[in-house]
Amino acid sequence: MFFPDPPDVTGYNFDQGLPGRETFPREDLLRLAGKVLARDGSVCLDYFEPQVGYEELLFGNRALRAAIAARIGHIQGKAVSPEGVILTSGSVQGIALAAHGYLDTGDVVAVEATTFPYALKYFQSAGAELRALPIDDDGMDVAALQKLIVELAGQHRRLKMVYLGPTFQCPTGTELAVARRVRLVQLAQQHGFLILEDDVYSELRFEGASLPTLLSMDDSGLVLQAGTFSKMVAPGLRLGWMAGDPAGIASLASVREDLGVSQWIARTMIEYLGEGLLDPHLKKVNAIYRAKRDAAIAGLASVRDDLVKFRTPRGSFYLWIEIDDRVDWQRVAAEAAKARIYFRPGERFTLEADPRQYFRMSYSQAPLETVREGSERLGQIIRSSVRRT
Ligand SMILES: Cc1ncc(COP(=O)(O)O)c(C=O)c1O
Repeated sequence: MFFPDPPDVTGYNFDQGLPGRETFPREDLLRLAGKVLARDGSVCLDYFEPQVGYEELLFGNRALRAAIAARIGHIQGKAVSPEGVILTSGSVQGIALAAHGYLDTGDVVAVEATTFPYALKYFQSAGAELRALPIDDDGMDVAALQKLIVELAGQHRRLKMVYLGPTFQCPTGTELAVARRVRLVQLAQQHGFLILEDDVYSELRFEGASLPTLLSMDDSGLVLQAGTFSKMVAPGLRLGWMAGDPAGIASLASVREDLGVSQWIARTMIEYLGEGLLDPHLKKVNAIYRAKRDAAIAGLASVRDDLVKFRTPRGSFYLWIEIDDRVDWQRVAAEAAKARIYFRPGERFTLEADPRQYFRMSYSQAPLETVREGSERLGQIIRSSVRRT
């Protein structure tokens, strides 16, 4: 049984992919949760709204589905109906439902060579055969995907699904280039595979123009998009969704094993969106994450390009750091643990062993000063861990 390591919140915690606690909009949520309870009475503590009915057990609160569909229209320029949205316990549940709703034993799923480990776990538990595709500065290598499709065709097999994070991919922070997005959607339409677009970080952009989502580029119902309030607002809400073609969303509902999401939290989030609080909140948190990213990069300046290499992300939570071969990685890990600096080893994100040394540093959650101090200390540890041979 796999359990993630428990966090040491008193150290320099760059490990889990969490929003900074200081960003949680506690006052707004307290006010709105109270408002909803006072106004809606016991209905908001019930399984579903009687006027809507059992549909909410399968898909979640209808009014929030409509509000999310409207937001997707507004932000992504894609018309989605409330029937094209299912609410889930975080986007992880949406990904798990897609795995179990669509995959049979032996189905081939293409994933990025480093990716979100929970998704791998769900695909594996559905019996899928996973194939890793390389990532470069422009995101997933779509030409490699094309080769895979040809290789499978040679064996009279076909690709069933591609799972990827086109915007601020976890853990690399890369953004899939627009030409690759276009090609990927063309390939899906040509070969009939499903694209599972993990879009949980795209609104956490603090630099650069936003890119078209895969969902917005497809009109044939082949893209399912995972979204969530976890990274934008707070993970403890446990409220995410999948959006796409209503028939595809219905397939996810058909394998659901719980009874929807919390009415109270859903109604609170309708109010949060309705009062227009999300956009100013994102503006505020993105400024915070940009400052933390800069602090992390400044802290590592003394080793950057020489002993470590990483891209500068334009949004989201992570630096994906490659350590030079001259550095004794075991020693870095041991010394960092002594200094109570925590980060996530690269192998947690890969399917196949990679001889290079990577780790993911999540700068989002620790306070700014801790990010600055911890990354500087980490830089010192890396410098002092160069092999002497
Ligand atoms: C890439 C990616 N997808 C999905 C999730 C799931 O988040 P949640 O279930 O809280 O929405 C995470 C959380 O770490 C993530 O990094």
